[in-house]
Amino acid sequence: MSRIAYVNGQYVPHQDAAVHIEDRGYQFADGVYEVFAVHQGRMVGEQGHMDRLAHSLGELRIDWPMSARALGVIIREVSRRNRVRDGLIYLQITRGVARRDHSFPDNTESALVVTARRMPPLDKEQLRKGVGVITIPDIRWQRHDIKSVSLLPNIIGKQQAREAGAYEAWMVNNEGMITEGTASNAWIVTKDGELVTHNASHAILNGITRLSVLEAAVAAGVPFSERAFSVEEAMQAKEAFVTSSTSHVKAVTSIDGHSIGNGHIGELTSRMLDLYVDFIETKGGPQNTNTWN
Ligand code: PDD
Repeated sequence: MSRIAYVNGQYVPHQDAAVHIEDRGYQFADGVYEVFAVHQGRMVGEQGHMDRLAHSLGELRIDWPMSARALGVIIREVSRRNRVRDGLIYLQITRGVARRDHSFPDNTESALVVTARRMPPLDKEQLRKGVGVITIPDIRWQRHDIKSVSLLPNIIGKQQAREAGAYEAWMVNNEGMITEGTASNAWIVTKDGELVTHNASHAILNGITRLSVLEAAVAAGVPFSERAFSVEEAMQAKEAFVTSSTSHVKAVTSIDGHSIGNGHIGELTSRMLDLYVDFIETKGGPQNTNTWN
């Protein structure tokens, strides 16, 4: 089956899909994106992704290419045409095509690309196998709440992780606090059994998966704290995990080669994975989706 992409008003074969050489996304990384998980034929956290997209576009003063409702129709259509039952939808909006000039162009229409990819269904056994993370300096700009396509520090960090044989790199700010992973949010479980993840601020991307896990924790009465935690605290944590639309809830069993807990997935992490899957299957995604900073 050949893949289909949506590019500026047209559904085209994926291998022929292309944008203009003066698209500002291509030249300046002047654009934003979203990655939606599709689980058992349903988009996870659609409203949350749309609200976060509105935040990213608004902060950068990029126009919507169309109404959110019309965009929803296209996303579902791309998913349908690619027969995605489990997988990912990628959406990118840039400030459009214009003669190269740093300042915003006048009267340029935003450019829209939507692609979809089938993936194996969420596999709890796989997610329960622990992975390693490394820590690296957070060298990004100061607006991580905006889901910008400008991802150089993230891709370099992820590559460092891969070369170190790790799954992810956790970024550490100047105060020694872990902000998040290069493409995921970072979590620990303290010795007292409290879930901890960085508070939503300009310092992190407020993940849709993160919000689902927090809402699932509230519903189950699991104690949690949204605050920064240091590398030292993470090293001494009982458990650790990452969350994202692509990693769901994934156990972390080592940080910089140092074993976390007993080196296997922790009890609460395992429970949060179950709660998360139940949550998205019953609620579809986070209900409180206006929490962008
Ligand atoms: N990344 N933090 C960063 C820096 C991210 O890039 C992501 C997601 C997350 C988790 O967000 P969510 O739960 O909404 O997926 C946190 C996507 C998956 C990506 O860039 O491919």
